[in-house]
Amino acid sequence: MMNERPLIIIGAGGFAKEVAWTVGRMNMRTPTFKVVGICDDAAERQRGEWAGAPLTGPVEVTAARLAAESVCPCFHCAVGDNFKRKAVVARALQAGWVPASVIDPSALVAPGARVAEGAYLGAGCVVSADVRIGAYALLNFQVTVGHDAVLGAYVQACPGVRVSGWCEIGEGALLGSNAVIVQTRKMGAWSVLGAGTVAFRDIPEKETVVRLV
Ligand SMILES: CC(C)(COP(=O)(O)OP(=O)(O)OC[C@H]1O[C@@H](n2cnc3c(N)ncnc32)[C@H](O)[C@@H]1OP(=O)(O)O)[C@@H](O)C(=O)NCCC(=O)NCCS
Repeated sequence: MMNERPLIIIGAGGFAKEVAWTVGRMNMRTPTFKVVGICDDAAERQRGEWAGAPLTGPVEVTAARLAAESVCPCFHCAVGDNFKRKAVVARALQAGWVPASVIDPSALVAPGARVAEGAYLGAGCVVSADVRIGAYALLNFQVTVGHDAVLGAYVQACPGVRVSGWCEIGEGALLGSNAVIVQTRKMGAWSVLGAGTVAFRDIPEKETVVRLV
């Protein structure tokens, strides 16, 4: 008997390929999801296949088609831009779809840590004791999050990011590849820490910083 839940991936871009790969790795361990479609608004990404799954058009078009087939899918939003991801998630929820987290089997999540709905944890991530990962947060390959850190909804940590213990990362903040934030520091909502940047101080809301700060 097949127990996989029907899954829609939203956003036919490079990150969708990584999500599809991770879903495949999850399924090898435990049958979890069947990718039934990949949604995108772009006219040139509405027919054919992407990452081995059929392209099904915008969320609303796909939702109407699936509803006619009595399928209520779960969804994972693979839109990399944090602000756009938030907007697209609202449309998927409006369609009545259920958010699904996608977590690579190699990710380590401490027993006391919590990962909210719709989040992504790529291969090699480590989420330590009592960490909170917000809804629709995106942790790419080999991100480590130290004890008691709190990451808000729609945060994105690119490959190799180091979030230290007790840090607070506000909603929609972006940490570029190999960025580091030292313990207890905070990033405000929608702030940006550039690739390779090390933050020794708090970063105010909506501020972008690069190099050593
Ligand atoms: C911080 C960031 C968002 C800024 O992007 P941007 O607004 O387009 O900025 P620009 O590329 O125009 O760069 C502006 C200046 O900052 C410098 N700069 C940009 N990012 C930098 C970084 N991470 N470290 C050091 N300097 C940086 C540029 O060299 C440029 O300097 P100049 O004014 O002396 O020429 C971007 O550079 C970045 O680091 N993004 C993360 C990318 C990433 O990790 N991707 C992984 C995807 S999985």
